[in-house]
Amino acid sequence: MKIESDFLVIGSGIAGLSYALKAAEIGTVAIVTKKEKAESNTNYAQGGIAAVVSNTDSFDHHIHDTMKAGGYLCHKDVVELVVNEGPERIRELVDVGVQFTMNEQGLDLGKEGGHSHHRIVHAADLTGKEIERALLAKISSHPNIKIYENHISIDLITEHHLFGIEKQARGTIHCWGAYVLDVEQNVVKTFLASTTLLATGGAGQVYLHTTNPLIATGDGIAMAYRAGATIANMEFIQFHPTTLYNSGSPSYLISEAVRGFGAILRNRRNEDFMKKYDPQGSLAPRDIVARAIDTELKRSGDECVYLDLQHLNPNSVKTHFPNIYERCLKYGIDITKDFIPVVPAAHYSCGGVVTDKNGATLLSGLYAVGEVSMTGLHGANRLASNSLLEAVVFSHRAVEAVKRSGRLHNEMEKNIPNWDDSGTINSEEWILVSHNRKEIQQLMWDYVGIVRSNHRLERSQRRIKLILEEVKDFYKRTKVTEGLIELRNLSCVADLIIRSALERKESRGLHFTTDYNFSDDIHWLKDTVIQ
Ligand code: FAD
Ligand code: SIN
Repeated sequence: MKIESDFLVIGSGIAGLSYALKAAEIGTVAIVTKKEKAESNTNYAQGGIAAVVSNTDSFDHHIHDTMKAGGYLCHKDVVELVVNEGPERIRELVDVGVQFTMNEQGLDLGKEGGHSHHRIVHAADLTGKEIERALLAKISSHPNIKIYENHISIDLITEHHLFGIEKQARGTIHCWGAYVLDVEQNVVKTFLASTTLLATGGAGQVYLHTTNPLIATGDGIAMAYRAGATIANMEFIQFHPTTLYNSGSPSYLISEAVRGFGAILRNRRNEDFMKKYDPQGSLAPRDIVARAIDTELKRSGDECVYLDLQHLNPNSVKTHFPNIYERCLKYGIDITKDFIPVVPAAHYSCGGVVTDKNGATLLSGLYAVGEVSMTGLHGANRLASNSLLEAVVFSHRAVEAVKRSGRLHNEMEKNIPNWDDSGTINSEEWILVSHNRKEIQQLMWDYVGIVRSNHRLERSQRRIKLILEEVKDFYKRTKVTEGLIELRNLSCVADLIIRSALERKESRGLHFTTDYNFSDDIHWLKDTVIQ
């Protein structure tokens, strides 16, 4: 079955939805999303969205904070444009109907690690859910947009599918859309479009412990890599310092905004240990806090550290963090009286598909926006609450770029073949899929975590190579299923992370290795690029 539209959007988080709304002003839009439409990392965002909206703040401060948190690997021109365009994009979100928390002065502004000023626009402690609600409400009634739920994209369609791999290698690669598995009908559909947007989000599920929901399996990064796009900076996986210890899976985040509000990290001896590691104490950037917790736990043998809110006004705590309060209460923790036990977990992928300042990738017709992309904004460590901001800034720029290019209603390639699964069988070997998925997650957690070494990385690489071979073989013989598609992508992304981590022979931002425990600006103030 072939489905044609001007725009194909893969993913329904903030990047996909905010892009779709703007694209629909100039063409028809098909959104495919692999689960229910709201299920995304966006939907779980707590702290908020960073932007300079207070007159005590300045663009220069936000730019400086972003560069510093990013280990000065951020592309300064990109940082400047994102920060400068931020306030306008926030105004648009308000116009779309997002109800941010207000106070007497206007938008209520929170603070998070690495920020020198209060600049986090938020909707209590459920910012992402509110953004997702408002965008979906607009989109649901839009005549130019159709959403396909439970549709998982398998691969991008390029010359490779028309002419074979050799011919593809000779010229510019073009993307005509994607092959997508309709999970309910169990049929692979061909979605064709003049412009395709990858908005598939992050890859937290590659790790055993993560704040990310189950959808975050790095599909977009793997699809783009297979199609020939450039991938960069995959070693920079951000671990959030504070997820609730022992909450089961997936981990439950305790927003950094809680520390921005005054909470203090303590170890079992009640010590405000962050003071030993950074002058900003509990509000140091995430890479520093997560590493400090890791060090404390390894030194003491303890299983968690604690967040202390006991000195804060209990009513204010409940007003600012109503959902965190309720959720912890379910686990028997009253956050106004008890310490909250916390541990780090994988949270955000700073690397991804390389784009220009308009979200365009190396493949013509293919854009990437949001967590799937590597725009140059985050460098070696993302400043808190800069990712929702990046998504809205780049989705706007990407639509504007299509408008300028004049290639909106390009003649569709008519010879795109339908999905061919001849020679494959329905396999009962689901155990291979679930076993390998768990093995990747455990391996990445144990060997490619907060503190790395050559020895551990090499060990993980040997194992991931075997898994890649097994998955490749299985994929060739078997009809596609959701589990297999995700496993193929998880193994690809794990491999990209390990290769990038082995490549970088220094420690910077989120990549810390005991073999090179220093930053080397002379040789390594550059991105780690894989193609
Ligand atoms: P997502 O919101 O993850 O959306 C991806 C979409 O793609 C989903 O709809 C998914 O189903 C779909 N998809 C994936 N693969 C496929 C496929 N193969 N086929 C079809 N569809 C597919 N950032 C901030 O700036 N501020 C915060 O306060 C904040 N808090 C966070 C809290 C938590 C718990 C988490 C997990 C993240 C947080 N982040 C925060 C990060 C931020 O939420 C994400 O980086 C951002 O929402 C990513 O948006 P996105 O649109 O790129 O991807
Ligand atoms: C949080 O609320 O701590 C998450 C913020 C972010 O990831 O930017």
